[in-house]
Amino acid sequence: MSELLLTACDIELITRVRAALEAAAIRDIVRSDDPTGVLDRMDAERPLVVAIGPAIEDEAAISLAGAIERRHPDVAVVLLAQPTSAVWEQALRAGIREIVAPDASPEAMRNSFERAMEVGRRRQSNSVAPTPTRSNRVIAVVSPKGGAGKTLISTNLAIGLAQRHPHDVVIIDLDLQFGDVGNALRLVPDSTIADTVVPGISIDTTSIKAFLTPHPTDLLALCAPKSPADADEISPKHGSQVIELLAHEFTYVIIDTSAGLDEWTLAALECSTDIILVSGTDVASARSARKALDAFDLLGITSQQRHFVQNRADSKVGLSASDIESTLGTTMDILIPSSRSVPISMNQGVPILESQKRTPVSKSLVELLDRFSTNGSHAATPVQDRSTKSWRRRDPR
Ligand SMILES: Nc1ncnc2c1ncn2[C@@H]1O[C@H](COP(=O)(O)OP(=O)(O)OP(=O)(O)O)[C@@H](O)[C@H]1O
Ligand SMILES: [Mg+2]
Repeated sequence: MSELLLTACDIELITRVRAALEAAAIRDIVRSDDPTGVLDRMDAERPLVVAIGPAIEDEAAISLAGAIERRHPDVAVVLLAQPTSAVWEQALRAGIREIVAPDASPEAMRNSFERAMEVGRRRQSNSVAPTPTRSNRVIAVVSPKGGAGKTLISTNLAIGLAQRHPHDVVIIDLDLQFGDVGNALRLVPDSTIADTVVPGISIDTTSIKAFLTPHPTDLLALCAPKSPADADEISPKHGSQVIELLAHEFTYVIIDTSAGLDEWTLAALECSTDIILVSGTDVASARSARKALDAFDLLGITSQQRHFVQNRADSKVGLSASDIESTLGTTMDILIPSSRSVPISMNQGVPILESQKRTPVSKSLVELLDRFSTNGSHAATPVQDRSTKSWRRRDPR
């Protein structure tokens, strides 16, 4: 066990930090020169504090801090960056409580690290070892760009799975501000995810079910808040708790997300077994999808099974599937064509898989569905061992 793990710092900064901390008798310092390996290194070193230096962009540093906070909530994070109000605002949301400028005086640096050490010690003395649990398939549908087709895919996947596994599928709308899963399924929810936040009371596997809205196909939905303002009440940590509770009760949990990789989406990805990455056919979509994959690697979101979907794949004005594949560096698993029936079905609130079985779009969607459940049986149900945070599969495909 070390006291401090330093990452994304050059030699000069490491020397300054070491010199500043000498007087505080903090000498057990290790380095991880590669920020992508920090989460794994933390598993081995179990430091009290991780300091992220300026060798990576502020945004990447804050995302990394958020990932550390979620995977190692008992470790304090110090950000070595210019403490502007914009950086503070984002850092606080990621759980960072200490920011110190790389060129701060040795005394300011020492004070900051001493406070963080104290927080780390307190957190680690209070922390309880996680109990290994079993969980079912948690499938997050993401895309860096808006309008890519996440809601089309998540709602149809949920309907298709519910037809094969009645009462065993739940869809969560984690597009907290403008989620439209309710509209796409023609649901009028009494309760939404915002109602699961009750100050001073923690929800459990029984009480969470009271907030679900039933769909006629025996699918259940946890809809997005009715007002975008209510989204502020829901922390990423609360989102993860909701997902984990539902994953204990349902064989399939499908998560629709907002565009991009916000804190809620990252929290959802961390507790997912599968990621469906949706890309359009334009250059910007393909490039953003590539960046998203790089971010997954940087943040240690690597054990989830990835599924690549190209939507509107027959578009004459965009990139071909092979262009997109070479930009992404991977092959596309599912190609969904464009069709007027898609906006019509979404506007009517009747998913394509509920009403149209034989169109090219529904065939692609069934192909996607078959990756998770074939002939009514589970495909490769994974089991999460939370003590190691790793996923394994019962039946490797
Ligand atoms: N294959 C398709 N053919 C025709 N229209 C499509 C197709 N896929 C999606 N659309 C239309 O594009 C719009 C966006 O789709 P959808 O809402 O599923 O995307 P999204 O990624 O969830 O968007 P947001 O980021 O805003 O949540 C909708 O009007 C939908 O009907
Ligand atoms: Mg959507």
